[in-house]
Amino acid sequence: MTTYRLAVIPGDGIGTEVTPAALSVLAAATAGTDLQFTIEEFDWSCRRYLDRGAMMPEDGLDRLGQFDAILLGAVGAPDVPDHVSLWGLLIPIRRAFEQYVNLRPVRLFDGVTSPLRPELARDVDLVIVRENTEGEYSRVGGRLYEGFATEVAMQESVFTRTGVTRVVDYAFELASRRGRGLTSATKSNGIVHTMPFWDQIVAERAELHEVDWRSEHIDALCAKLVMNPAAFDVIVGSNLFGDILSDLTAAVVGSIGIAPSANLNPEGTFPSMFEPVHGSAPDIAGRAIANPIGAIWSTAMMVDHLGHPEVAERIMTGVATSLATPATRTPDLSGTGDTRGVTEAVVAGLG
Ligand code: NAD
Ligand code: IPM
Ligand code: MN
Repeated sequence: MTTYRLAVIPGDGIGTEVTPAALSVLAAATAGTDLQFTIEEFDWSCRRYLDRGAMMPEDGLDRLGQFDAILLGAVGAPDVPDHVSLWGLLIPIRRAFEQYVNLRPVRLFDGVTSPLRPELARDVDLVIVRENTEGEYSRVGGRLYEGFATEVAMQESVFTRTGVTRVVDYAFELASRRGRGLTSATKSNGIVHTMPFWDQIVAERAELHEVDWRSEHIDALCAKLVMNPAAFDVIVGSNLFGDILSDLTAAVVGSIGIAPSANLNPEGTFPSMFEPVHGSAPDIAGRAIANPIGAIWSTAMMVDHLGHPEVAERIMTGVATSLATPATRTPDLSGTGDTRGVTEAVVAGLG
């Protein structure tokens, strides 16, 4: 029997709806196998912040460090400023555990309609490799003269040679395995210090890999991802560019509700974290219609990362089965199903 310790943080809003769905699929997919997860659940959330003044306890990161993996729903609530909830939980986890690769696959499933013309989205199967620990997400900067006409806000981006090199290498290696090339997102025509630095490191690392690659400015890249998304395979981008590209590409294949992510510490020194790309969606929270596929697919990525691709594949067979039928899709995918019905369909369809 192989046993993993899994930390589960459902969080806020629909995070508390899609996480139990993902856990029930995990339980069904591992039943009768020699794979076992012992689960500890944490109530770290905006609710906790409002009750006790912090999103997680002071030793929260130390406690998470004891686990083999972390499953997160989403955090964020209308009555707590987003920078408080996100810098109080999600971003510290990504940084403390050096989860410097945020892997976000994007695929059009049979039965799902893209908002694009059908012939454009048909063959979309790409993956975004997002830098996840530095870049535009930085605390360097500040606000001065608040309330005065002279008020100013400054935010520094921080790109390090080590930080850019390691994520770019990961992307080149992935592109080399997938065999359809690499696109690097840049903005070196407008952002004069950090983006030329990014480009230079990409070009240097390209010398070490046999991969076709090109650089695209982020603005033009967004347009091309709408006009011809199937032309892309691996896309590597900085923290903010990768964030934006992942919601854009998720929409191209139907809905942000199905998009998964793996925050990876590739060396395995620290636990990796798996979470849907979407947030807590306060606009639909409590209505039992949240699409659980993003969380379920993230769980498949976790099982795969832990070294059990056959179990991950079973989960993805269930996902594909549920997505093929309107009655077992949620309303964001023009379905008539709800969270529970979709989850049951995934379980029934496990390979
Ligand atoms: P969001 O992803 O929560 O919602 C955007 C839109 O997509 C909404 O209309 C929502 O209803 C819809 N949507 C999202 N997930 C869905 C699902 N599974 N099924 C069906 N529809 C879905 O983004 P937002 O509105 O920008 O953010 C809401 C809150 O979530 C904010 O507090 C934000 O900071 C937070 N957030 C957290 C995370 C995270 O914890 N990882 C990620 C993104 C946003
Ligand atoms: C994501 C989210 C987060 C991010 C926010 C909530 C800080 O949008 O995981 O994509 O930008 O990383
Ligand atoms: Mn995002």
